[in-house]
Amino acid sequence: MEFSKHILITGGAGFIGSHLVRRMVRNYPSYLIVNLDKLTYAGNLENLSDVADAPNYRFEKADICDPAALKAIFEKHQITDVIHLAAESHVDRSIEGPMEFVLTNVVGTVNLLEAARAAWQNEAGHVFHHVSTDEVYGSLGEEGLFTEQTAYDPRSPYSASKASSDHFVRAYFHTYGLPVKMSNCSNNYGSHHFPEKLIPLMIHNIVNEKPLPVYGKGDNIRDWLWVEDHASAIDTIFHNGRLGESYNVGGLNEWTNIELVRFLCSLLDRKLGRASGSSEQLITYVTDRAGHDKRYAIDATKLETELGWKPSITFEEGLERTVDWYLANQAWVEKVTSGAYQDYYNHMYLGR
Ligand code: NAD
Ligand code: DAU
Repeated sequence: MEFSKHILITGGAGFIGSHLVRRMVRNYPSYLIVNLDKLTYAGNLENLSDVADAPNYRFEKADICDPAALKAIFEKHQITDVIHLAAESHVDRSIEGPMEFVLTNVVGTVNLLEAARAAWQNEAGHVFHHVSTDEVYGSLGEEGLFTEQTAYDPRSPYSASKASSDHFVRAYFHTYGLPVKMSNCSNNYGSHHFPEKLIPLMIHNIVNEKPLPVYGKGDNIRDWLWVEDHASAIDTIFHNGRLGESYNVGGLNEWTNIELVRFLCSLLDRKLGRASGSSEQLITYVTDRAGHDKRYAIDATKLETELGWKPSITFEEGLERTVDWYLANQAWVEKVTSGAYQDYYNHMYLGR
């Protein structure tokens, strides 16, 4: 079959990537979707078992730090477009060991830009969409929102590596005319989220009656967006966004961490038939994250007014769906939290 686009999605076996791959495979049968993933601890092909046999889906196990592998994959699949999500994504891990973040997030991104530049040779009609984070803007006080004009001020090794990759993507647009688009999104939540991140970690620990480690006073604020709404935003920007532009993605949904953990406790008390208030007893205040950003909040006006995107569900609805998915998929949780992850969990969250 002839495909109208051959899109390389990197990091497609991870949390957001697997939602995006599923959406693109299902919604665009005329596109070939090539998922490139190294399958680190965060990548899991079971996330995509429902589309693995689709005629327009291919998987390539590869490392974006390997330029020869990228060249071969561009040639083999005649890649016309890239949506780049592959990254080391967890802030706590970046504090423990920054180098992997520099290699994958910075060097890997530049390798991918080089592969696209070499393959496309200034031809019109291609798109390189770089998926990034609101953390590049730094930390907000009580007031204000991040806009696309907010100056970059990354403060963790993770956000410094993502900010660096954003700068390289813009530099390739200005220097070589590479047809890039960029998006910077707030905190995602939903199914298939690795249980080192706040929401799936708390669900996992509530279910298993383990301590719920809340950093500092729990008064840091995050702005949460359902992962499928992020996937729909990427789809919109990839197709209709302007070249060289970045778009903020978020749903005006700020919560303090402690409010959110309490909400999850009461939701799970109800779902698990436990006495009201019992899971809250598991909340344990622990040493704060080093350099912990106080508040993130996204202004997505540009994406909404220019491209007509908006989130599809409320946080309460999304959290209920997410909790139901985790309760129905304990085997997935067991699988991804066994082995090497268990050592990390014990070290990070139980202090052993
Ligand atoms: P994730 O950690 O769940 O998945 C990352 C994926 O990248 C995994 O499948 C992993 O195997 C793959 N990968 C890692 N290193 C690789 C390498 N060297 N070569 C090839 N593949 C590699 O991450 P996520 O939460 O799905 O985030 C995806 C992207 O979205 C990242 O770029 C992240 O910075 C960005 N982002 C995430 C959020 C969020 O809330 N999770 C918000 C905004 C932006
Ligand atoms: O804002 C977008 C970013 O959101 C993405 O770019 C990152 O890839 C993603 O991991 C996420 O970063 P955060 O650091 O905000 O997410 P995390 O789930 O690690 O933490 C959310 C908040 O919860 C943060 O204030 C730290 C706090 N926290 C986290 C954990 C894991 C706790 O209090 N206890 C915990 O055990």
